[in-house]
Amino acid sequence: MEYLAYGKTGLEISRLCFGAGHLKHTCDSYASGGELMLKALDEGIIFWDTAEGYGSQPHLGEAVQQIRREEVVIQTKTGAKNYDGASQSIERSLRELQTEYLDVLLLHGIATPEDLASREGALDAFRDAKAAGKIRIIGCSTHIYTGPVMDAVIAHPEIDVILTTANKEGRMLEGGSFARHLDYIRRAYDAGKGVSIMKVIVAGDIPEADMPAWIEWGFNLETAHAINLGITDYPHITLDVGLARASARRRLTQRKAA
Ligand SMILES: NC(=O)c1ccc[n+]([C@@H]2O[C@H](COP(=O)([O-])OP(=O)(O)OC[C@H]3O[C@@H](n4cnc5c(N)ncnc54)[C@H](OP(=O)(O)O)[C@@H]3O)[C@@H](O)[C@H]2O)c1
Repeated sequence: MEYLAYGKTGLEISRLCFGAGHLKHTCDSYASGGELMLKALDEGIIFWDTAEGYGSQPHLGEAVQQIRREEVVIQTKTGAKNYDGASQSIERSLRELQTEYLDVLLLHGIATPEDLASREGALDAFRDAKAAGKIRIIGCSTHIYTGPVMDAVIAHPEIDVILTTANKEGRMLEGGSFARHLDYIRRAYDAGKGVSIMKVIVAGDIPEADMPAWIEWGFNLETAHAINLGITDYPHITLDVGLARASARRRLTQRKAA
C-alpha cells in the first residue's frame, strides 16, 4: 500500500480510502462491519471515510475499540448547518466512533458558495471543537458539484481537505465541464489541500468487468491524494488493494525511468 501526506494537513494516509457509506445496508451487525474494517486495516487501508448520515460510524467504532486509535485516520462528516446542531453531531460522532478525536471533519455535501456561507454556524462549532482537541482537520465534501463551489472551497482558508467527484468519464458531475473540474482538483492539490475523490466507479453503475480500469484511472490521478471507494465486502478489499499496489509500483517505475 502507498502511504502519503494528506496535503499540508500533517496527516499520513493510505492512497486507498475505505468509503464506509454503504455498511449500514450491507452488514448485518455493527460487529460484522467492524470485522470488515479490521480486515481492511490488515491489508494496509488506514484511511477510513464515514459520515453521521451514513449510519456507519458505529461499525467503525467496533473496529476502533480493538486497535490503537493512532493506527487509523478517520474522516467523518456532518450535514448540520448551525452551531448547536454541529456541536451535537460532533459529540455523537465521537461516541459512535468510540474515539476522543476526529482526524478530519467535513461539512457534508456543499453544493454552492451560498451553501458554504450558510454553514458558518456549523463551522464555528468546528473551530471550537478543534481548539478543544476534538477535531484535527476541517474540510468539506462537494458531492457531485463543480464550478463556483470549487472556487469557494479552494479559496476558503480554513478548509484544508476537499472530497469531490472524479472518474474516468466525468460521469455524475454537475455544474461545469469535467476538464475544468480536473483543473480545480489540481488547483486544490497545488494549494496544499488534502484531496480525496469519490464516485470513481460511478457509485457501482458500470459493468463489473470494467471496474478495474475505472479504479486504475483513479489511482493514476496524481492530483488526488486519496481514492475513496465504497467498499462493501471482502472481495472488494482484495481487488482494490491489488490495484492500489499495482498502480503504486507502475508509477514508481515510470518515475525511475524518467
Ligand atoms: N457527499 C459526500 O460526501 C459523499 C457522497 C457519496 C459518497 N461518499 C463517500 O464516498 C464513498 C464511495 O461512494 P461512491 O458513491 O463514490 O461509490 P463508488 O465508490 O463509486 O461505488 C461503490 C459501489 O460500487 C460497487 N463496487 C463494485 N466493485 C467494487 C469494488 N471493487 N470496490 C468498491 N465498490 C465496488 C459497490 O456496490 P455493490 O455492493 O452493489 O457491489 C459499491 O456500493 C462512500 O462510501 C462515502 O464514503 C461521500
